[in-house]
Amino acid sequence: MEKYRIQGGNRLHGEVEISGAKNAAVAIIPAALMVDGICRIENLPQISDTVTLLHILESLGARVRMLNLSTVEVDCRRATWENADYDRMRKIRASYYFVGSMLGRFGVARTTMPGGCNFGVRPIDQHVKGMNALGADVEVTDFIDARVRGGGRLKGAYVYLDKVSVGATMNIMIAAALAEGRTVIENAAREPHIVDLANFLNSMGADIRGAGTDSIKVNGVEKLHGGTYAIIPDQIEAGTYMAATAACGGEVLVTNVIPKHLDCISAKLREMGVTVEEYPESVLVRSTGRLRKVNVKTLPYPGFPTDMQPQIGVAMSIAQGTSVITEGVYDNRYKYLNQLSKMGVRAQVDGRVAVIEGVDHLTGATVAACDLRAGAAMVIAGLCARGVTMVEDIFYIERGYQNLVEKFQALGADIRIVDEPEEPAQRTPAAG
Ligand code: EPZ
Repeated sequence: MEKYRIQGGNRLHGEVEISGAKNAAVAIIPAALMVDGICRIENLPQISDTVTLLHILESLGARVRMLNLSTVEVDCRRATWENADYDRMRKIRASYYFVGSMLGRFGVARTTMPGGCNFGVRPIDQHVKGMNALGADVEVTDFIDARVRGGGRLKGAYVYLDKVSVGATMNIMIAAALAEGRTVIENAAREPHIVDLANFLNSMGADIRGAGTDSIKVNGVEKLHGGTYAIIPDQIEAGTYMAATAACGGEVLVTNVIPKHLDCISAKLREMGVTVEEYPESVLVRSTGRLRKVNVKTLPYPGFPTDMQPQIGVAMSIAQGTSVITEGVYDNRYKYLNQLSKMGVRAQVDGRVAVIEGVDHLTGATVAACDLRAGAAMVIAGLCARGVTMVEDIFYIERGYQNLVEKFQALGADIRIVDEPEEPAQRTPAAG
């Protein structure tokens, strides 16, 4: 089984280039199903989620051609909505974006229930509410089956989201792009990747305004033409390397970023005593001396991102004093603290609140990633701990981080992939 072996204690120095945004890419690829032409997507992150989604497009009959490691050309003109690779769909949460693109183009959709990281119940009721409003009946079993009532195209509608949901906002926007008439999405999520999806669709001929605000207007068009689009840099990948530099100490230039997207992360790191200098397309992070405690509440954008919660939790665990995290988005996103307690992290969790008492240092141990960002937190903990840390279940991490090992090695970290035999199952003593 492949694991990361990390010898902790090295400060980080040098430059790291950020890849394309995972949470934009995983919506843009399903949306490409609606394009009546050749769609070239640039700055695509090379991560397992994008590979999985491109395979799903191929299973639907699309022609997919990698022009280089980060540029793909897809032609979905001969694609359909039936007989997708449902096994692959089950593996990732973003497969639900095919509901929006299938309904938008074909008036009918069949996908599996989404997979993805497990931190509490992750309902899709707001997605269903949006598709119902656009005129589709939706049946949810192990599959999601949807069909426009009475056939034909979706009809534009007014949708008020009861909960600020990135996925529902994106899914409804995708479907509405080819609906008849105007759609308004109120109480919409405002993440940078939502703006990126809107810009992608508009570059293919859609008419979407207001993305990035809580009210998005979509005037449906007849069809989307081909074109070329470059995905924005990944806000969370950038934040991960910033938090790692804070925890390990050192000086790192994080390049190919949009500093505005990092405002909340930079502000919290500055509160902890980290220097963050902003340039047009990069940020310089410098961390010397002991970090100061900080309190964080995760919120939808532009609040502190929930996807950065585990990473800053590690920095808090070695800060001077006691920090408090309030998880404002998910019910249960603290499982990683159980793993980190093996390394000496002292944390108390009560519902959505975690109190983290800073300790002088962490100590290497064998830990397992339990989801994508928890896995990133395990890596940061190993990098700043004393001794050796083994991180297992690294497939979670590789879903969302391109070349993580190589990027950290280039910053001076002692981290490598080792392939060790599965631990023999613990022998249970024969019944006496
Ligand atoms: C997206 O998940 C991201 N995933 C998540 O990133 C991210 O944590 C999340 O947005 C919040 O920013 C992808 O983009 C593939 P939500 P999503 O719908 O769309 C509740 C990562 O680490 N909700 O904004 O599933 C939901 O339970 C991943 O990259 C409903 O109640 O998140 C949650 O409490 C992890 N009903 C809250 O809303 C719904 O119909 C926010 O969820 C939908 C969501």
